[in-house]
Amino acid sequence: MSTIDYSETIPNNVNLSEDKTLQRALEHWQPNYLNWWRDMGPDGSTNHDVYLRTAINVTPEGWANFGHVKMPDYRWGIFLAQAEEGRKVNFGESKGQDAWQEVPGEHRANLRRMIVTQGDTEPASVEQQRHLGLTAPSNYDLRNLFQINVEEGRHLWAMVYLLHKHFGRDGREEAEALLQRNSGDVDKPRILEAFNEETPDWLAFYMFTYFTDRDGKFQLNALAESGFDPLSRTCRFMLTEEAHHMFVGESGISRVINRTCQIMKEFGIEDPAQVRAKGVIDLPTIQRYLNFHFSVTIDLFGADQSSNAAAFYSAGLKGRYEEMKRDDDHSLKNSQYRILEVANGKLVEREVPMLNSLNELLRDDYIRDSVAGVGRWNRVIEKAGLSFRLVTPHKAFNRHIGPMAACKVSPDGQLISEAEWAANARNWLPSEADRAYVASLMVRVIEPGKMANWIAPPPVGINRQAIDFEYVRFN
Ligand SMILES: [Fe+2]
Ligand SMILES: [Fe+2]
Repeated sequence: MSTIDYSETIPNNVNLSEDKTLQRALEHWQPNYLNWWRDMGPDGSTNHDVYLRTAINVTPEGWANFGHVKMPDYRWGIFLAQAEEGRKVNFGESKGQDAWQEVPGEHRANLRRMIVTQGDTEPASVEQQRHLGLTAPSNYDLRNLFQINVEEGRHLWAMVYLLHKHFGRDGREEAEALLQRNSGDVDKPRILEAFNEETPDWLAFYMFTYFTDRDGKFQLNALAESGFDPLSRTCRFMLTEEAHHMFVGESGISRVINRTCQIMKEFGIEDPAQVRAKGVIDLPTIQRYLNFHFSVTIDLFGADQSSNAAAFYSAGLKGRYEEMKRDDDHSLKNSQYRILEVANGKLVEREVPMLNSLNELLRDDYIRDSVAGVGRWNRVIEKAGLSFRLVTPHKAFNRHIGPMAACKVSPDGQLISEAEWAANARNWLPSEADRAYVASLMVRVIEPGKMANWIAPPPVGINRQAIDFEYVRFN
């Protein structure tokens, strides 16, 4: 596949210049996008030269290049992964048909809704993270933040392309609305609740990119299975970028833990107050942040039982994670799945039709994937010879969506009373004091190679550059 022409206003691999109406519509949307970036994108960053990765084609080898770019000049290309010859609808009632290149009329409303919901999260996270650049712990981290931000912007472009190309006037209106809603806005909030939370500090940022970008990975994987081929191809390409976002989260938390353990050992201290006195983040605070971000993120998968999820699957619009690796009939009409419920004052599992519990299935796949990284963080603590271990909370803990929202559950999965919850929440979720402490550590460090006191340097730089490479130049 050829390299993209970056002299075009909207670089793309979708032959945009052959569809003048579409091209004009997108060129009309572009200035609104740039205005949004200026108003809601990374604070005070317009003139920085940032060492960015730019997608240039969709082949696995050399799909991106690196160079210093001002973020407003970063080219928000539109990319669909390469078409798969003879691709079929692989699940649901239309299984075996050729994959759809156009939107089937009967699925139009549902497809639009799925694309809008996904699209809404992309600019939302940029808004949530817009002040973080002012307190970046290093030049390297600042670059990673900006890389994620420009790619979330590109993901918005990818979704807007689908809306413009396939949904006519409705699609154009939805594309406008994606720029009008804002994270945390009282009147026009973002669609999903986790995307209206603040990302106030870098510990929250790393947790967000580890846990919430991973929700993106699972949603995109499920959408990449779609019988609507353009959606599948768009999501497949987005996944190549998502991996870096999760890397930033996983390695970020690992470096925070590393630094804390180093101080604990050096001074022979374990008491959180003493650890804090050394200007690093105590492990129990990291656990509370983990509890918060994990529980807020698993809510994103929706209600445990959902007739919408069943309808999306049966219609061939949204599959399961790794649908094609599963050895079953891909119709699920006779399959069962276990969900949680409360019976006689206890959490118990109950078998229900799998079709109705696809949200829960995706959530469980997500949880398995999340737990693996927590194990890797624990190995950092173990290597330091400390006995503390981070734990992923029970999936019923601190839920606000689904039947578990009606009960109080401890991180280890015990059903508890309101009074017990009130007495213990301080130990389980970040308190105002925790957040204030973490905020007090947030100072901007921009000299290449230098790190804020509370975080260890990364083991290697980006794109084989040195750790003290000038990733961001300030003009
Ligand atoms: Fe994204
Ligand atoms: Fe992401």
